[in-house]
Amino acid sequence: MTMLRHAPLVLVIAAGALYLRERRARTRLERLGAATLETLLDAIDANNPDTGAHVRRVARYSLILADSADLDERMQHRIERVALFHDIGKLDGAVADIINESTKLSPSERRSIRTHPGRGAQVLQPLIAFYPDLADGVLTHHERWDGSGYPRGLKGRHIPLSARIVAIADTFDAITHERSYSRARSIKVAISAVSDGRGRQFDPDLVDLFLSPPVMKQVLAAMREANGPQRARRSRRNGNEAQGIPDITFRWRTTAPEQQKADQ
Ligand SMILES: [Fe+2]
Repeated sequence: MTMLRHAPLVLVIAAGALYLRERRARTRLERLGAATLETLLDAIDANNPDTGAHVRRVARYSLILADSADLDERMQHRIERVALFHDIGKLDGAVADIINESTKLSPSERRSIRTHPGRGAQVLQPLIAFYPDLADGVLTHHERWDGSGYPRGLKGRHIPLSARIVAIADTFDAITHERSYSRARSIKVAISAVSDGRGRQFDPDLVDLFLSPPVMKQVLAAMREANGPQRARRSRRNGNEAQGIPDITFRWRTTAPEQQKADQ
């Protein structure tokens, strides 16, 4: 009788313990995934600091656009990840050589560079259990709204939202910053390029939002911050401050460091 009376309480305690154990295991897995991404980002920096700086700026602009589009936090994390790793396929030896050494691209070099979304998706594929849509977002960041992009020729809303956002931020940054094979051009040129791509290269609604005064104001402020000398004073996080490389927040981490300690 006594045992029967206490059985529900025992069950509640057991269920609670099981829940806590599962939550801890899930948190550890999330941290493992985040650490893997952090390592990959360090690898991008080590391979090519310019690409490391580029992807961080693209992540900043993408988050501004995602936030302005009222996307929820979970979606913003997904977009940030796609932005940070959209060019990881450029670490591929043949592509990296072209990017690092060429000043003017030949047609065959351009073809080689066009393989980078596919290579990037392959590199990220093993992380599919942690980040199910990351590889797909990276694969599709050069698709175009009118279906003339690559590698799949996807059209309109068949292109993942993360890739549609990153495509705009990527173009804006690629034009306003120098690369080994192209010099930096003005903000005005970048705005025209985004505007000209409305409904052809880019999602028209997202272009309207990106070019709207409040969003553009935030993007230009982020760009100034990334390029400005005040960066070196304000941040010591990644060791790249002298080059004006923005911090990233790794906001996909679900818990603050203090909380992580408490959970262990
Ligand atoms: Fe790209």
